[in-house]
Amino acid sequence: MSVRTPRLPRPRHAGRAFGAAAFTAVAALAAATLLPTSQAGAAGTTLRSLAEAKGIYFGTAITQSDLNNSALTAIAGSQFGMLTPGNEMKWDTTEPSRGSFNFAPADRIVSFAQANSMRLRGHTLVWHNQLPSWVSGLPAAQVKAAMENHITTEATHYKGKLYAWDVVNEPFNEDGSFRADAFYNAMGSGFVADALRTARAADPNVKLYLNDYNIEGLNPKSDAMYNLVKSLKSQGVPLDGVGFQAHFIAGQLPSTFKANLQRFTALGVNVAITELDDRVQLPATTASLAQQASDYAGVVNTCLAVTGCVGITQWGVGDADSWIPGTFPGYGAATMYDANYRPKPAYTSSATALGAGTGPSPSPTPTAPGGASCKVTGAVNAWNTGLTEDLTLTNTGPSTINGWSLAFTLPAGQTVTGSWNASLTPTTGQIAATSLSYNGTLAPGASASFGFQATHTGNTSLPTVFSLNGTPCATA
Ligand code: G3I
Repeated sequence: MSVRTPRLPRPRHAGRAFGAAAFTAVAALAAATLLPTSQAGAAGTTLRSLAEAKGIYFGTAITQSDLNNSALTAIAGSQFGMLTPGNEMKWDTTEPSRGSFNFAPADRIVSFAQANSMRLRGHTLVWHNQLPSWVSGLPAAQVKAAMENHITTEATHYKGKLYAWDVVNEPFNEDGSFRADAFYNAMGSGFVADALRTARAADPNVKLYLNDYNIEGLNPKSDAMYNLVKSLKSQGVPLDGVGFQAHFIAGQLPSTFKANLQRFTALGVNVAITELDDRVQLPATTASLAQQASDYAGVVNTCLAVTGCVGITQWGVGDADSWIPGTFPGYGAATMYDANYRPKPAYTSSATALGAGTGPSPSPTPTAPGGASCKVTGAVNAWNTGLTEDLTLTNTGPSTINGWSLAFTLPAGQTVTGSWNASLTPTTGQIAATSLSYNGTLAPGASASFGFQATHTGNTSLPTVFSLNGTPCATA
C-alpha cells in the first residue's frame, strides 16, 4: 500500500508572519491538554499504570539502535508495560543463513524489557517480509522443515520469557485470499496450523497469535481472518489471540472496529492492538493532532469496551522513530510523542480514556490560564529554492525557563541546511530546535531569537504549531 500526498506549490512570500487565527487554534489546543508535561511521567499517571489499573497493557516497539537513545528508553521503560522488538526477532535477523541463528540483537531488547519489568511480545516467527532469500529460494519440499526448525529454535530460545508470539504475520491479501508467499506456496493454508502447533510444542505457556493489518473493521480481509480462526479453533489448533496492527489514518477509524473485535472474542480468542499508529498529513496541524487525539481515545475506549482485548501496543515510541514517513511520503507525526519525546494531545487523550484524573490520586494540576506559556513569532524570506526563517520565542509564563527545546513540523519539501542561535535536528519533518549555552535561560517575559536556512520544493510556509518542552505555544 502506498499513499502519496499531492504537493501544492504555493506562491512565494517575503516576510510572511503568523496570523491571529493560528493563535486562537493553538491556544485552544493547549487549553484542551489535560495532563501537563510535568505529570506525564509522574508515578501513578503513566500509560502503563493507568492501563494496568484497567486490566490491560500499554506497550511500545523498539529496535536495537533505540537502546542508545536515552530520551526514548526513559519513556519506553516508564510509560509502557509491554515491549515488542521492532525488527530483531524477524527471520532475516535471527536465521540469516540456514541453521545459523543470531539472537544477540533481540536478546538485548529482552534484557531491556526485563530490567524495566516489562513483558514482551515476540514478533514474528513466520512472515513473508524480512525473510532471507535462502528461505524463499528453497524447493517447496524443504520449506516445511525449514519453517518448523526456525520456529522450534527461536521459540525454544525465548521459552518462558515472552507473553505472546506473533506466530504468523500478515497471511492475507486485501481481498481475503491467502498471500502467495513461500509458506503458502509450499504447504497451502495448512502452514498456519503447522506453525501454531510447532510454536506450542516449543513453548507451552506463551500466548500464540496471528497478526495482520487492515483487519480492524469488517471487510473481506477480516472475514478471512475470522474464518481462519474459526476453522483453527474447531480443529483444536493452539491459538490464543489475534493481533490487529491498527496502522490508522487520522479520522479513519473503522466504525465497525468494536463489532469486529467482538466477533473474534466470541470465537474464544483474545484480541490485541499490536502496532498502533495514526498518521496525519504533514505538516501536522492543530486540527489533525486533535483528530489524532480523538482516534487514540477511540482505540483505548474500544479495547476497554471489548472483554478479551488484552492491550494496546504503539509501533515506536515517538514520531522520530516511526516507519510512517519513510513508507508514506507526506505523512507522519503518527505517535503519541513528538520528535522531541514530548507528549502530544494523543497522549493526553489516551491517558484520559484510561481514567487519568478520575481516581483519588494524584489529581491533575491545572494548566496555566489560557494554556500556553510561550509565544512564537516568525517570518520567512523565500526565493526559488531556498528560504530563511527568523523565529522569536518568548517566555509568557510565570517561571524562568532553564534550557528550551522548541518542537515544530517543517512543511513537506523543506530541508534545513543551517541554523543560528539554536541547534536543529533532524533536517526534515519533526524538528527540535534546542537552545545553546548562551540563550537557554529565559526569565518571564524574556525572548530568544534564532533562525535557520532551508531548501524547499515549492512550499515555503512557516510551521503552524510549536510546542516548548511539550506545551503548545501561542503563535501571534
Ligand atoms: O538492516 C538494514 C541495513 O543493513 C541497511 O543499511 C538499511 C538500508 O535501508 O536497511 C536496513 O533494514 C531495514 C530494516 O527495517 C531494519 O532497520 C529495512 O530497510 C527496512 O525496510 C525495515 O523496515 C521495517 C519494516 O517492518 C519492514 O517491513 C521497519 O523498521 C519495521 O518497523 C516494520 O515493522 C512492520 C511490522 O513488522 C509488521 N507490520 C508492519 C510494520 C511496519 O512496516
